[in-house]
Parts: sequence; structure tokens; C-alpha cells
Amino acid sequence: MGPFAYRNGALHAETVDLARIAAEVQTPVYVYSTAGLEANYRGFIDAFEGTPPLICFAVKANSNTAVLATFARLGAGADVVSGGELRRALDAGIPPERIVFSGVGKTAAEFEQALTAGIRQINVESRPELELLSEVAAARGLRAPVALRVNPDVDAKTHHKISTGKSINKFGIPWSECPGLVAQAVALPGISLQGLAVHIGSQITELDAFEAAFRRVVECFVGLRGLYPDAMRRLDLGGGLGISYEREAMPAFRDYARIVRRALAGVDCEIVLEPGRALVASAGVLLTRVLYVKEAEGRRFVIVDAAMNDLIRPAMYDAFHRIVPVREPAAGAALAPVDVVGPVCETADTFALQRPLPTVRAGDLLVFADAGAYGAVMSSVYNSRPLVPEVLVKDDGFAIVRERVSDDAMLRFERMPDWLKPRTVADRSASAGRR
Ligand code: LLP
Repeated sequence: MGPFAYRNGALHAETVDLARIAAEVQTPVYVYSTAGLEANYRGFIDAFEGTPPLICFAVKANSNTAVLATFARLGAGADVVSGGELRRALDAGIPPERIVFSGVGKTAAEFEQALTAGIRQINVESRPELELLSEVAAARGLRAPVALRVNPDVDAKTHHKISTGKSINKFGIPWSECPGLVAQAVALPGISLQGLAVHIGSQITELDAFEAAFRRVVECFVGLRGLYPDAMRRLDLGGGLGISYEREAMPAFRDYARIVRRALAGVDCEIVLEPGRALVASAGVLLTRVLYVKEAEGRRFVIVDAAMNDLIRPAMYDAFHRIVPVREPAAGAALAPVDVVGPVCETADTFALQRPLPTVRAGDLLVFADAGAYGAVMSSVYNSRPLVPEVLVKDDGFAIVRERVSDDAMLRFERMPDWLKPRTVADRSASAGRR
């Protein structure tokens, strides 16, 4: 498990016993490892052998500001998809010139925010978006740096809910409209066209899909460059590289880097990449405690204190996360199939069905592995369960980098309309007088 490994019979994050974190912070809690984040980032950069592209970490995968600040110190940029993510990236110390802004539905206010911050590039996904951005920028006497995101109509061969590069998906500019839109972008007063962008999906495990998409985009880029040399300086090849959730074979960073280099052979331009999952998934776990073990009709349910609101990937994408006990099982311990479920009142609140696990008892601690990407960021307060805390480990210490949100804090955002407020004695006697 990389930065998560057994030491003296207990699962540790670096050299911190996870049982210590559970005792001090309570469960459920997300735990991230600084060493894990750093190793992933460095491994990704090193795979490009001396000519690394600009790595804009996809903030949507993990937007905790301490995680972002860890990457900022390593020189990373950020790929953001909302004003909120932009704010976080800037707060965490990521320089604006290393920030790109993606997404199909950016608002005028978000364009204002991006222009004020002076970010590197806005990835535009449609004609109306391009026109609005031009208006907003021109009104301020500016030209917005833009990359046009094209939809290469390539099957990423991933889960249908996270596939983005086919023509039926809402993302990017249809292939056939690209030359026309480039011509328009070059002529608009508020746009400074910089190049093209592409992103075909997430948890991609077959490099062929990347290769097909990159080839199409590079071909288009080279063709357009002949016509508009100043507007085709930069290629943003998105993110999407998968990780091995089930210990299945997976392309290494080097294999992916080779595909990028091969697609770009002979093309001299700036390269941006937007990896998310590959940099954070393996550097985080969700630590949970077993509440009950329930036997019913020959099935054994392990009911844990984490739920689908804390980690929605299994419910939403039938995603697999390894489940690892914090107390190391004896060598050769027998495994028996169990259903691991949370407390939320939905059958979808199931983390694993018939998963072979060593004997688990109430009070035991477990982790869901590889939960550093699309874990905490996708959590909700469903069933009025508060957002869980996040902890960042470094060496033999740790810090709480997001507090557990209290019930009081959640209720503070709600307001009771006048007509539902508890009535005072004076109100009651006034309405009695009117009767
Ligand atoms: N760039 C763009 C424009 C994206 O839309 C995404 C992810 C990324 C980069 C980063 O992709 P990555 O390297 O992380 O695969 N919630 C889903 C994943 C959704 C991904 C959305 N876009 C999950 O839990 O699997």
C-alpha cells in the first residue's frame, strides 16, 4: 500500500499508527500521506525524463488546501472547474500562471474571477461560452488566454459515467466545428487563442484510448498551426490515467509518458497535463470503525461507521476499494465473505458484497484503500451526517487539515421563516384577542 503499511502488527500511515489517529480524531476520517503525495507527483514528473510538461493537478480529485499546498511546494499547477476551486488553489499558494480553468458551464462571474487572478488559460468548450468570455474580457480591456477543448470522439473504455471524449458526451467542441471556432476565436476582441485541449475520461486503463485521442488532437493542432501560428502554441492533454484499485495490472507513469511523447514527436509546443486520481488516490485512505457484525439468513454484514455520504464511489460507479484491517491479521488467517455496509438508510450504502475478509469484530478499525481521489470531495451530508475530518500525515506526526463539521455548524446555515418560528406569549394573546 505504498505509504500505508503494517509495522509491528498495525497499519501505519508513514510512521503514524492509524489506531492513534482514530483515538485522537475519531472515525470516520480521511487520512492522507505527505510521502505518498510527493512520491506520486515526483514519479509522474520523472516519467517524462527531463522534459516534464506543466502538471496542473485536477483539484476536483482532492481539493483540501493542505493537499494543494503540498503540491504547490513541489511546483505543481492546478486544473480548476469552479470559482471555489480557483479560490482554493490560489489560497494554497499555486501561482495563477500555473492554473487552467476547465468545465462546460463556467459563469460570467467565474470568468471575472479568473481574469482578475490572471490565470494561465481558460479551456472553452462551446461557441456561446467563447462569445461570453470575449465580451467579459473585452469590457475590461483584456484578452482572455484560451485553449479550445475539442471532443475527439474516442471511446476511453472506462465506466460510462466518467467517459467524456465521445461525441454523445456533453464535453468539448465537436470535431467538425473546430476549424470554424478557431477562426472565430482568432477574430474575437476579448480572446487570445493559445491552443487546444482534450480530456477523454477518467480511470482510463488502456493506453490505446489516450493514443487515439492524442493523435487526433495533434493532427488537428498541426493543421491549424499552419493557418494560425500564433494561436497554436499550447496543447493541454487533460488527465484520466487510471490506478490499480484491485491490484490489477496498470500502465505505469512511464508508459503513459511514452504515449504522450510519441504523439507529440516533432511538434514543438508547450504541454499541459491535468492528472488528478493518479497523484492522490493511493496517498489516502478512509479510516472507519466497525459498529456491529450482524448475521442474517446466512449472510454476515459488517456495519461500519463510514457511509455512502462519506465515500460515494462504490454506490455511484460500483467502484472497488480494497478493505484492509488496521490490526494485522495473523499469517494465513482464514477469510470469509462479508457484506461491508454503512449506516445510511439505503441499500446503495454498500461498500462491498461478499468480500473475503479475515474475522472482523465490533470496534475493529478498517480502511478503504485508495480513497485519496474523489473521496472527501464527493462527500455530502445525507442523513444529516456531518462532513468527516481530513488528516494529513507527515513522517511521525499528523495534522487535522479539515475539522469534523459539527451539527451546530450545519444548522447555522439554515433559517426558520417567520411563520414557523416558535410563537411568543405576546403573539398568542394578540391572536386570541382577534378571535
Ligand atoms: N481534466 C478534466 C477536464 C476532467 O474533467 C478531469 C476529471 C480531470 C482532468 C482529472 O481526471 P483524472 O486524472 O482524475 O482521471 N468522480 C469520478 C471521477 C470523475 C472525473 C471527472 N473529471 C470517480 O470517482 O471515479
